[in-house]
Amino acid sequence: MTLHRSFVIFALIYSIIPAMTLAKKFVVGDEKGWTINFDYQAWADGKDFRVGDILVFNYPVGAHTVLKVNGTGFEDCIKLPASEALTSGKDEIVLGAPGRKWYICGVGKHCENAGQKLFITVQTQLPALSMASPLQAVPQLFFGVLVAVVTLALAF
Ligand SMILES: *[C@@H]1O[C@H](CO)[C@@H](O)[C@H](O)[C@H]1NC(C)=O
Repeated sequence: MTLHRSFVIFALIYSIIPAMTLAKKFVVGDEKGWTINFDYQAWADGKDFRVGDILVFNYPVGAHTVLKVNGTGFEDCIKLPASEALTSGKDEIVLGAPGRKWYICGVGKHCENAGQKLFITVQTQLPALSMASPLQAVPQLFFGVLVAVVTLALAF
C-alpha cells in the first residue's frame, strides 16, 4: 500500500507544480516588436503578467533601446544613463518581482513623441493557480486527481 500511496502523492505533486511554475514569454508588441507609434498600453491590456514570466523586446539594434524606469521616469520620459540601457535588439527581461514596471525607449524622443513606453503590473505567481489562469491549472489538477482516484481504486 505504501507504494501506491507514494504514487498518488507523486502524481498530485507532478500535476500541480507545473501549473504553478509555468512561465510565459511575452513578445512586446508581438510581430511589431518594440517600436514607435504603437499602443503598448492596448497591447498590455488584459495580459496576465506573473513573476517568472519573460518580456522580450525585439527591435533592430541601434534603432531603439530599453530602459527600465520608475513611474516618474515613465510619465516624464526621463532617460537613465545610456550604460543602463538594454541594446541587444532581442532583450529578455525576467519579471523577478510583483508590482508595477515601466519601460521606455532611450533613443531620441521616441518616448516623448512616439509613445514608445510600456507600463505593466506583475502579479505574484501563486494566486494564478486559483484565480487568473484557471484554464491552465484546472486540467492538470483534474488529471492529478483522476490519477489519484484511479490509483486508489486499483489499490483497494
Ligand atoms: C525615479 O527615478 C529617477 C531617476 O530617473 C530618480 O531621480 C527618482 O528619485 C526616482 N523616483 C522615485 C520615486 O523613486
